[in-house]
Amino acid sequence: MSERLLYLSQADVAAVGLTMEEIIAALEAMFREKGEGRVEMPPKPGVHPLPDAFIHAMPAFIPALNSAGVKWVSGYPDNYRRNLPYISGLLILNDPQTGLPLAVMDCVWITAKRTGAATAVAARYLARPDCQVVGILGCGVQGRSNLEALRVLFLLKRVIAYDVNAEAARRYAEEMSVRFGLEVSVAAHPQEAVSGCDIVVTAGPILRVPHATIQPGWFEQGAFASLVDFDSYWHPDALAEVDKFCTDDVAQLEHYRHVGYFQRIPAIHADLGELVTGRKPGRERADERTIACNLGLALDDMAVAPLIYERALERRIGTWLPL
Ligand SMILES: NC(=O)c1ccc[n+]([C@@H]2O[C@H](COP(=O)([O-])OP(=O)(O)OC[C@H]3O[C@@H](n4cnc5c(N)ncnc54)[C@H](O)[C@@H]3O)[C@@H](O)[C@H]2O)c1
Repeated sequence: MSERLLYLSQADVAAVGLTMEEIIAALEAMFREKGEGRVEMPPKPGVHPLPDAFIHAMPAFIPALNSAGVKWVSGYPDNYRRNLPYISGLLILNDPQTGLPLAVMDCVWITAKRTGAATAVAARYLARPDCQVVGILGCGVQGRSNLEALRVLFLLKRVIAYDVNAEAARRYAEEMSVRFGLEVSVAAHPQEAVSGCDIVVTAGPILRVPHATIQPGWFEQGAFASLVDFDSYWHPDALAEVDKFCTDDVAQLEHYRHVGYFQRIPAIHADLGELVTGRKPGRERADERTIACNLGLALDDMAVAPLIYERALERRIGTWLPL
């Protein structure tokens, strides 16, 4: 038989029907493996065809999940001007035993969902369990998937949404309130989506030089924040108020620092592998201010891709292509 691979379009990947609960569980299992030092993930090499744009190669191997592969993903902050998505790309899943490619799939759905799930894993260790009010700054793809993931772990009551584009925030509020049955209001000023919130998610564009909108004194004692867009939204003096600043991978954060990002962030308390395995403590007091600045790891993608592939096989979704 000639060798073949399964091609899964964006619609195919979504049609597979993996739930956010399953994705969060897969990421937590992966972070446990990472914490135990049983994974392989070289830093992301990338090319940068435009300022603040990237196309990154993200390879990873997770033996316990029998998963190996690479994501080739681009982020173009100005794509909205062309009516194109910020994030696009493809993922190749390989058979770890033979190296042969098993599948090529669109990576937009995985990127959206696994990033939200990584916020949820961090929140499980760093946020108060009784969090009810969430502030979302940046009402795009990530603003949506992060809220979807947080809902799995917390009994949320209220969401306050801010976007520099007021129309984007209005659409978000309308859509999320219907989808999740939550009270979602639009903030006229960014401070309203930070002060008074138990959880804050920032998900605007990633910028080498932060726009630093969030000022000291806004982020409440006892709150948790997920910085999906790195430190772009935060004034360095606001970050300095935090008790525990965590990330998903220290080596990658150091790499980013080396190439000019994260010039003024607090000392790193722990990575998610250390939190999940209990090597470092998560939240210890109700009044701590905690942050997870997850960079987005190839390991996140490779924790989810085999589940997509297996479910697609079961449900006969996708198109077979000759190798
Ligand atoms: N850390 C990770 O793992 C990870 C993974 C995927 C995406 N991201 C990042 O998350 C961010 C959001 O991605 P997305 O797919 O949701 O994009 P998106 O385009 O869907 O949403 C971005 C939102 O930011 C708003 N925005 C635009 N310019 C702004 C500015 N100057 N200041 C504040 N807000 C502004 C836009 O109006 C839009 O609503 C990007 O920075 C992306 O690179 C991070």
